Amino acid sequence: MDETVQRVVVVTGAGRGIGEAIARRLSSDGWTVVAVDRDADGIERLARSTTTEGRVHAVRADVTDRTAVEALIDDVVRRFARIDAVVNNAMWVRYAPLPEVDDQMLDGMLAIGLKAPFWSTQAVIPHFRRQGGGAIVNLSSPAATRGFVGSSVYSAVKGAVASLTLQAARELGPDGIRVNAIVPGAVPTPGAREVVDEEGYEIRRSMTALQRLGTPDDIAGAVAFLVGADARFVTGHLLRVDGGL
Ligand SMILES: NC(=O)c1ccc[n+]([C@@H]2O[C@H](COP(=O)([O-])OP(=O)(O)OC[C@H]3O[C@@H](n4cnc5c(N)ncnc54)[C@H](O)[C@@H]3O)[C@@H](O)[C@H]2O)c1
Repeated sequence: MDETVQRVVVVTGAGRGIGEAIARRLSSDGWTVVAVDRDADGIERLARSTTTEGRVHAVRADVTDRTAVEALIDDVVRRFARIDAVVNNAMWVRYAPLPEVDDQMLDGMLAIGLKAPFWSTQAVIPHFRRQGGGAIVNLSSPAATRGFVGSSVYSAVKGAVASLTLQAARELGPDGIRVNAIVPGAVPTPGAREVVDEEGYEIRRSMTALQRLGTPDDIAGAVAFLVGADARFVTGHLLRVDGGL
């Protein structure tokens, strides 16, 4: 990777929580960050607080719209003449007992959590191939491999994201495209707090070797590593960033 060029990354769900921290971190590392969210407030605030090292450009888009995802990637390349990384972070989380899962919940979480990373990966492939490589980071979850009550849809989506990561790494590796996933531990964010209460966080804290919850910055640091030059030989990796859950 040529460190003299201004690298460009797309971060979805960058308006708050972990995505916001990823966008801030990559911006302060000197990346040009395209911060995508369906809610304009957070990303516009982020763009106004742009660091001197990098720039954050707010783009309001709903990643469940395939055409919008494809247009987004193409616009980024048209505007910045390159794209180096995509972080598929956006998610909508709902918990419900299995018998009560309805199609709105199932379809909504599948679209945001699985179809959107699939579409962005497809859209970016020709650009990465032309440039000789690129990096994709997906967000999986410990819920993919262990049971949490009410988490059937979320767990299934995050398990599928892990599988997609491994499969895409194998298929796209010959093009120099690296595909990895982060498996974050419990990070109290606005979205996570909608499904985990204080008692739930106490349990998660006690289950963690480091005896603390994660912060969005803990996750952002690992993403910065995976998209960066130090991870040039890392692909198909599911990186647990969970304090030893
Ligand atoms: N917080 C945790 O404990 C935790 C643990 C494991 C994995 N994760 C994963 O990390 C990622 C970030 O989680 P978070 O806790 O910061 O979530 P969050 O709910 O706080 O933030 C998600 C962001 O995504 C945006 N978004 C949702 N649907 C969108 C859509 N259709 N189009 C565009 N933007 C959309 C939301 O507006 C929001 O800004 C998710 O993929 C989540 O599954 C989180």
